[in-house]
Amino acid sequence: MTTPLSADAMKRAAAQAVLEFVSHGMRLGLGTGSTAAHFVDLLGARVREGLEVIGVPTSERTRMQAEGLGIKLSTLDETPELDLTVDGADEFDASLRLIKGGGGALLREKIVAAASKRMFVVADATKEVETLGAFPLPVEVDRFGARSTRLHIEGVARGLGLEGPIMLRMSAPETPYLTDGGHYIYDCAFGAIDAPETLAERLQAIPGVVDHGLFIGLATAIFVAGRDGVRIVGDVTGGGL
Ligand code: 5RP
Repeated sequence: MTTPLSADAMKRAAAQAVLEFVSHGMRLGLGTGSTAAHFVDLLGARVREGLEVIGVPTSERTRMQAEGLGIKLSTLDETPELDLTVDGADEFDASLRLIKGGGGALLREKIVAAASKRMFVVADATKEVETLGAFPLPVEVDRFGARSTRLHIEGVARGLGLEGPIMLRMSAPETPYLTDGGHYIYDCAFGAIDAPETLAERLQAIPGVVDHGLFIGLATAIFVAGRDGVRIVGDVTGGGL
């Protein structure tokens, strides 16, 4: 009898499968979260064996991990175009649309993904949904006027028939969570989002919204690890700046 893979082992299997697409000289966006951390860890091992790549981290957390593993790092200012970004997701659907930001790094993750020819997402099969929205959508807002911005978010949601609590993310009972960019995050538990493109557009148009966790048209392939192995959704060759 085979022992079923743990969620963590599945995440590592997805990360391992992506590593096969990494080659000498690549400029890589390094994602944030527990699945992306497996990729960075495995990449570190390959770098120790002699692989030469340059990484642009999507968070301070990832920067510290990659630095500790001896991966050569850069910034988007020095290296504005990347070959491949590898990142996790909180949810994805069959059209490769994602919800991200559970780990609080959505803004840098989106900027880095947009600077990349390809974005490969690594995830375990539990992240796959028919309709996005079971995972509360993170919306990153400037601290200035955050309560007004929240009212606008509520208004946009209402206009699309979306309801549900909008909660300021906290890092301690009295302390709001701050992103690497010094912004707040509202976690919006809207439930099923039937029109993610429209919601994305309308949220982005609110002054005070820095960005939101809907990643649409960015992922080129998703490596989905399940109990029977890793399945690839999308196109591993596609994408281009
Ligand atoms: C961080 C993210 C992560 O990619 C997302 O939260 C998935 O994390 P994990 O791999 O730990 O489940 O968007 O902002």
